[in-house]
Amino acid sequence: MQPFPDGNTCVVGLQWGDEGKGKVVDFLTEKCDFVVRYCGGANAGHSVRIGTEKYATHLLPVGVFRPGVMNIIGNGVVLDPEVLLKEIDGLNARGVVVSPANLRISYKAHIVMPYHKLEDEAREASAEGGGIGTTRRGIGPAYAEKMNRTGAIRMCDLVNEEVLKRKVGQTVAEKNRLLKAMYDVPPLDWKVVFETYRDCGRRLTAFVDDTGKMLIDAARDGKRLVFEGAHAALLDVDHGTYPYVTSSSCSSLGLYTGAGVPPQTVQNFVGIMKAYSTRVGGGPFPTEQDNQIGNYIRERGNEYGTTTRRPRRCGWFDAVAARYSADLCGATHVALTLLDVLSGLEAVRVCTGYKHRGVRMDYYRADSEILAEVEPVYETLPGWRQEIGAIRRYEELPQEAKTYVSRLETLMGVPIRMVGVGPERTATLLR
Ligand code: IMP
Repeated sequence: MQPFPDGNTCVVGLQWGDEGKGKVVDFLTEKCDFVVRYCGGANAGHSVRIGTEKYATHLLPVGVFRPGVMNIIGNGVVLDPEVLLKEIDGLNARGVVVSPANLRISYKAHIVMPYHKLEDEAREASAEGGGIGTTRRGIGPAYAEKMNRTGAIRMCDLVNEEVLKRKVGQTVAEKNRLLKAMYDVPPLDWKVVFETYRDCGRRLTAFVDDTGKMLIDAARDGKRLVFEGAHAALLDVDHGTYPYVTSSSCSSLGLYTGAGVPPQTVQNFVGIMKAYSTRVGGGPFPTEQDNQIGNYIRERGNEYGTTTRRPRRCGWFDAVAARYSADLCGATHVALTLLDVLSGLEAVRVCTGYKHRGVRMDYYRADSEILAEVEPVYETLPGWRQEIGAIRRYEELPQEAKTYVSRLETLMGVPIRMVGVGPERTATLLR
């Protein structure tokens, strides 16, 4: 059974990240030629299990685990070359080959520099910054630099030693002054920065390509493309719970600019949702359960960050937020993940609306001030006692679990085609 129609597919998170996109992308790589990352950077963390081996990637697309698939890091990504090389070396050491034969990086991708990480760290630590709860990977400052233009370094600069030297020399001097004045950060030695990044550039030069053209040509030739979203719609810099968001366009809308392909390239938009909600870092979370239920979900779902190991905040499924994200991302199908985590609960709840200052709100408003004040309106459904992790056919799920899935589908208005009941490749039930 094929869960989605033929065509190119974007896999996108519809909550606050960590929905299990990696596993769904891995499933799709069986029948695809290209896997493309289009947003974010080393703040993302995708975990996949292949056989008995567990892997976590931050920058590498999940297609590296499938021989014959070409992986693309698009121009919309902010790339930390040291993290990428560590990831490549780590996988090569475990026998997963990553080379220019299966990985290409856009020459237009922007580079995360050490001063971006220092700024992220210092701003988060300072009271004045307000604190977003970032991953401190330098993501916000790197995207700000891109928009600022003058000091930014792109992949094509990283592999051009003369240009890199000039840019690093100028920018480090300026950043040292700014970081000292604003946060009393000790200065960086521009020469050390240059030499470190030059060496990364030398190792990465063979991977650099015009990936936008590669993808446009591939689509024209009928190749199958999968766009691997990172983070999720509610963390999107424009459409998420601003300012508690990441700095990229990480809904599906970012794929066109972030991969450099035109809109008609993609036909299927698969929204990934957990059977409950989680969020890491600050920001409003109306259905949060800071109690026994939240702890139950956290422990059973191993809800600790892949990138930072921070405990995730956990709560009930929020159908108001889900409808908003599904509409925004044009979700044609949904893959529901981690249904097994909810087993054993007497009852499960779904948020079907909000009340704000006594007034019912049926549609999401991505305004953190309002969201911090809303009260969720819940519907309660019967839970299912038995474990479901070993089930391999949707029909064999307990009736209560199927009723729960159908209810989420009706509330979102998008067909749920896949249901995850465990981390293994085989623990995906098609519907
Ligand atoms: P930044 O992306 O490091 O700037 O962090 C901004 C916000 O996005 C913080 O609340 C992070 O916890 C959150 N965030 C960024 N990437 C991810 C992700 O892949 N999963 C979950 N949360 C994320």
